[in-house]
Amino acid sequence: MRRTLLAGLFSDTVSDLSAALAVVRQHTDRRPDIALVLGSGLGALAQSAEDPVTIPTSEIPGYPRSTVQGHAGELVFGTLEGVSVLFVNGRAHYYEGHSPAATTFPVRLAHALGAQRILLTNAAGGINRTFKPGTLMLIDDHINWAFVSALAGPVVDGMPRFPDMSAPYSPAWTARAEAAALRLGIDLRKGTYLWTTGPSYETKAEIRAFERFGADAVGMSTVPEAIAAHALGMEVLGLSTITNFAAGMGQESLDHEEVLEVGRAVRADLERLVRALVVA
Ligand code: HPA
Repeated sequence: MRRTLLAGLFSDTVSDLSAALAVVRQHTDRRPDIALVLGSGLGALAQSAEDPVTIPTSEIPGYPRSTVQGHAGELVFGTLEGVSVLFVNGRAHYYEGHSPAATTFPVRLAHALGAQRILLTNAAGGINRTFKPGTLMLIDDHINWAFVSALAGPVVDGMPRFPDMSAPYSPAWTARAEAAALRLGIDLRKGTYLWTTGPSYETKAEIRAFERFGADAVGMSTVPEAIAAHALGMEVLGLSTITNFAAGMGQESLDHEEVLEVGRAVRADLERLVRALVVA
């Protein structure tokens, strides 16, 4: 199907989560406390789940299909540090042809399954000149450079029409996260994440512009999910792994393999941090 921006906006009619919930409930009756959305190359974190119940997202009615290498397409219910966690290893991106509303499907499903908190992880390019590949950054605010809100279109799942976005990322959880990182001796930075739709990486001129707008990192996910989760009243935390210098900030051209590589390289630190964040 050919998709224009407008078709993308309005093809996703009112979602019905009940069929999806019914399928999930055939596998498990667990109610996760936290949804942990895994970014590019970070999917291996789901292997840390204790007592896992895995459901391929292809079995879940209405779940947007995953087409990106590094995104497995499964939900894993498990325990991490004694907390009931839903590992979302099947993020839906706008650049895959999903509508903005469809990209929030996993968030709405996690909320309907009982999750009150959501930890959104991603791989991002570093714009802040003090960030090098491997830097871990808490998202303390975002810029929606896609100019399309995940909530555009029909109201779904009882979300408010005009939700406040003055603090989408929980200041309280962010403060606890910073304290936890300090205790663990993990260098955790804070910054503004800018969302571009992708899938092409940015030009150098775009990155120069984004730097002036105050962006510290750039990526192709997270913002639609943060908007939907905050609108649903969930507590939201965003965590970026800086996998590369953004275009023009380093010497090299960008490729997805490099992004996955760095994601894998920081896995140990990231896993220690995530374990601390779910109990923070
Ligand atoms: N730009 C956009 N998205 C990304 C990047 C980048 O440089 N690195 C990882 N995801």
